[in-house]
Amino acid sequence: MVDFSERSKEIEIMDQFMGTTETLEPILNDINGVNKVLGGYAITLNAVLELIRTLKKESYTILDIGCAEGTMLRKLALTARKHHINVKLVGVDLNAQSLELARRKSGNFPEITYLEQDILSNEFEPDQFDIVMTTLTFHHFNDDAIVGLLKRFVSLASIGVVINDLNRNALAYYLFKAYAFFFIKTDIAKKDGLLSILRAFKKKDLKNYAAQVTNAHHHIKWKWAFRYLWILKKK
Ligand SMILES: C[S@@+](CC[C@H](N)C(=O)[O-])C[C@H]1O[C@@H](n2cnc3c(N)ncnc32)[C@H](O)[C@@H]1O
Repeated sequence: MVDFSERSKEIEIMDQFMGTTETLEPILNDINGVNKVLGGYAITLNAVLELIRTLKKESYTILDIGCAEGTMLRKLALTARKHHINVKLVGVDLNAQSLELARRKSGNFPEITYLEQDILSNEFEPDQFDIVMTTLTFHHFNDDAIVGLLKRFVSLASIGVVINDLNRNALAYYLFKAYAFFFIKTDIAKKDGLLSILRAFKKKDLKNYAAQVTNAHHHIKWKWAFRYLWILKKK
């Protein structure tokens, strides 16, 4: 029986990935495919635009935590260009191979910089960014680190934080299993996809963390397909 009552503590294969960029690319393509088909990108992009509209500035500095090979950042750069918004985008990830791919694919995006860093031990300054965003990365962190991290994310952002992550529930798990059978090519993406759902969140988890982060107003919304969008607007 699969247990959905508590967050799984099992570590995803990708968090210990030691392969080459050539073996990594098809796995990331699988993850991107899920994001594309299930509307994951739009959730983050719309929320970032919503935060941008709350404060008029000449330029916005935006940090993407767990940027992998930078698809979200490139989509954000294109969206900002379309809306004539100046942005400086920074992606951090602890996976060097993902960042190598990110840099390779971002030749036409001078507004994006990539840094290899573990966000658990970064040295960014308070208010160094306007917006901090993170998509499908929050569930990688364990419960004992999450509240501290959230407070840190809010302190790094002068406007707010956008978190887009998965909802832990049985229907999401079994639908993903069926989707993966037909559409996901790599075994690692299949296994990590299911584990991601088991490591993810119920609304009560997010509300519990939110109650401990008092320097922000919290808006938590369930979104299709089995995502939570959590906007932390700095007080
Ligand atoms: C599932 S991927 C999400 C990638 C991308 N944001 C997306 O939406 O497809 C999670 C990413 O978070 C990164 N990551 C996990 N823990 C991290 C940490 N402590 N610091 C920085 N990056 C981390 C992983 O290397 C991986 O690239």
